[in-house]
Amino acid sequence: MASVGQIIFYSMVTLIVIFSTLIILILAVTFSRSSSQVMSSNTAPVANLSQDQILSCFLQTSIGQSGVTQLSVTWEKRDHGLVYRYSNGAPDLANQIPQFKGRAELFPQGITTGNASLLLRNVVRDDEGVYTCSISSSIGGGTLGLSLRTAAFSEPTFKYANGTVAAAASWWFPEPNVTWTDVNDQLLEGATSVRPEPTGTFSVDSRLRGANGSSTYTCRVRNDVVAAVSKVTVTDSGVSGNTYFIFNAASSLLPSTFLGLMTSVLSICHIT
Ligand SMILES: *[C@@H]1O[C@H](CO)[C@@H](O)[C@H](O)[C@H]1NC(C)=O
Ligand SMILES: *[C@@H]1O[C@H](CO)[C@@H](O)[C@H](O)[C@H]1NC(C)=O
Ligand SMILES: *[C@@H]1O[C@H](CO)[C@@H](O)[C@H](O)[C@H]1NC(C)=O
Ligand SMILES: *[C@@H]1O[C@H](CO)[C@@H](O)[C@H](O)[C@H]1NC(C)=O
Ligand SMILES: *[C@@H]1O[C@H](CO)[C@@H](O)[C@H](O)[C@H]1NC(C)=O
Repeated sequence: MASVGQIIFYSMVTLIVIFSTLIILILAVTFSRSSSQVMSSNTAPVANLSQDQILSCFLQTSIGQSGVTQLSVTWEKRDHGLVYRYSNGAPDLANQIPQFKGRAELFPQGITTGNASLLLRNVVRDDEGVYTCSISSSIGGGTLGLSLRTAAFSEPTFKYANGTVAAAASWWFPEPNVTWTDVNDQLLEGATSVRPEPTGTFSVDSRLRGANGSSTYTCRVRNDVVAAVSKVTVTDSGVSGNTYFIFNAASSLLPSTFLGLMTSVLSICHIT
């Protein structure tokens, strides 16, 4: 037969167990909410003028991406206005600024996975600037800032004749310069001409005379946004170039401390 004392004791234990479970559940829910955050694979993209550009923004969560519902997404350009909005299951473009009409869209498969990346078509110079991506959804949300820069850049092509290597690139902006170096990183004398094109971009031609067969040179076409670095190999049978692009670190376009502050304020608001 249980005494009154024992009954009280076991009731207390039961209550403590129930309350601890509740507290753990509440903590778990809070934690999973606050740990869903808005991320980007590139907060300082450089778009190639006239091409399409993806502005990356997505919800990173600890509880899996499959169950995202009630997604609403707002893309804005600082000091300009609405770029794109998706809410209540449909695009809401009533206040979209004219610059982005018909040029901005989300990826349809992103709507169920919390991927709010924006596809911006046919980039023009006016697209340069700071963008914010705001997500809200059943599993959390937040705001993220991106700084988009624009430039024109294209791979140079190479020709070799009579001891001269010629590099030609047709799509550059701002105006680039060209440097040639040898395997020892010694600067070589090249002859470069840069021509403005009707498109507002520049085409470049650069020649390196006295190039020796079976040698490798490095040709750099660059402006202050982007550099095309080409390893140029001259052989008896001709020339081949292997190019990669380097994007300069973003300037002060994006005040990252301000944005960081804004994001943390927003996530605090969200938890409470
Ligand atoms: C979001 O969607 C874009 C476009 O389909 C894709 O390139 C990107 O990898 C996606 N990001 C994530 C985290 O799924
Ligand atoms: C940039 O765009 C130009 C013009 O559309 C194109 O010719 C060039 O190949 C592009 N550059 C790169 C690196 O894709
Ligand atoms: C190559 O050099 C030779 C002799 O210097 C000259 O006759 C010829 O025209 C040059 N060819 C080219 C394509 O420049
Ligand atoms: C080719 O080789 C000669 C002799 O080694 C050298 O003086 C010259 O600078 C080289 N030319 C280039 C473009 O590297
Ligand atoms: C070429 O351009 C880069 C980037 O604008 C600049 O830093 C560099 O000083 C320039 N070089 C020459 C030789 O003009």
